[in-house]
Amino acid sequence: MSIIDSVKGAPDLLPPVSSGFNAIESAMLTTALTYGYERIRTPVFEHTEVFARGVGASTDIVNKEMYTFEDKGGRSLTLRPEGTAGIMRAALSAGIPRGGVLPWKVSWVGEVFRYERPQSGRQRSFTQMDVEALGTTDPAIDAEMIILGWDALRNAAATAGKTFDESNLEVRLNTLGDRADRPAYHAALNAYLDQFETQGKLPKDVLERRHLNPLRAFDSKAEGMAEIMANAPVIKDHISEAATEHHRQVVALLDAEGIPVIHDDHLVRGLDYYTRTTFEYQATNLGAQSAVGGGGRFDGLAEDLGWNEPFQGIGLALGVDRTYLSIYGVSPGDPNPGLARTPRVDVFGIPMAPHHGPRVFHLITALRRAGIRAEMGESTRKPRALFKSADRAGAQFAIIIGDDEMMNDEVTVKHLATGEQHTCPQDVAVLGSIVRTSD
Ligand code: HAM
Repeated sequence: MSIIDSVKGAPDLLPPVSSGFNAIESAMLTTALTYGYERIRTPVFEHTEVFARGVGASTDIVNKEMYTFEDKGGRSLTLRPEGTAGIMRAALSAGIPRGGVLPWKVSWVGEVFRYERPQSGRQRSFTQMDVEALGTTDPAIDAEMIILGWDALRNAAATAGKTFDESNLEVRLNTLGDRADRPAYHAALNAYLDQFETQGKLPKDVLERRHLNPLRAFDSKAEGMAEIMANAPVIKDHISEAATEHHRQVVALLDAEGIPVIHDDHLVRGLDYYTRTTFEYQATNLGAQSAVGGGGRFDGLAEDLGWNEPFQGIGLALGVDRTYLSIYGVSPGDPNPGLARTPRVDVFGIPMAPHHGPRVFHLITALRRAGIRAEMGESTRKPRALFKSADRAGAQFAIIIGDDEMMNDEVTVKHLATGEQHTCPQDVAVLGSIVRTSD
């Protein structure tokens, strides 16, 4: 019988890759906490309707990438393909628009699922760090969000001793105006696209999507589309005075903080809920899958989910896997020669013979309970093999018990790097002070 492999596009992250990955993830989350975004946890699945209505009918996510299933009660559920719609749903369910402290600022990190064609930087199960500010129209929050993402990515790179800066990380910014601005703009864009459709120059993906959302024509990677879209009308020339002023204020705040923003009139992003500010972070060493994160305003999302008054918001998500790929140059599912194993424990217990095992076990248990990372070797193995295990575990000290130590109620403490050793009482306080002073 053969073993069962992992599901395609859903890699396992094993140590030490998992520690490198966790370090990136926690650097990102810590950045969000620093900016005042509390951690939230919402279920990994939602009613399918949340994403169908929230993310939008014209998106690839809703059309072909959702993991949707019927549960035993006959409900249609979907594994989250992104976080924003579920967080907005949670806020509305809890009545946050009426009773919450606004803006409601939350963040989380976790697995997200999309049925995409797996390739470098594109998986079916991947991890996002997501940040959302709900109940705000303040342009300062837009600027805060963009700087937060930039800082989070820079802090993530620092966990590997690397740097993200203007030379290898781009922040692209656009405004999509308000929903009320769309009909006039769609008309202008459609009129422009019509001439190419008549000439038979529009590719299949654009023909399919343009009637649902012509903006997606900017996203098409089909041959010839970049040339066609180069002269297309851009949305920023078709938005209201209020949306233009909002954008002006966001840009001014970012400029004042020295954030190296690239203005990109063609940035539209692949989710339908965006309004006004939209942005994306691109790592220049990643090729086709270069977006390490993105976000924007979603001022109409609450209404799409059934809320009957405006409840605006803005957020971002960073792709932890892609950030890792950009930083280390290998996918998180692959072995990473650039990542050394980090020490697992500080103390390793070595019984000289099987009958010394229980005493070592007792001491190791006491050390762990005192908060010292400790582990014990199998008492049936030879001490020589156990010293090797101690090295592999990254321990600084071995504590050794043999017949002499048993008789004198002592333990031998060996500093593994220097080979220095001495005996001391079998006392956790004494052992603890030896370990802690060597830090
Ligand atoms: P998104 O651009 O779809 O935005 O995803 C954010 C990031 O997740 C991407 O920039 C990328 O790094 C990563 N990502 C997306 N798909 C994959 C994949 N198949 N494999 C690996 N990484 C991937 C959102 O999800 C929005 N909810 C962001 C947001 C939050 N907007 C407002 N608030």
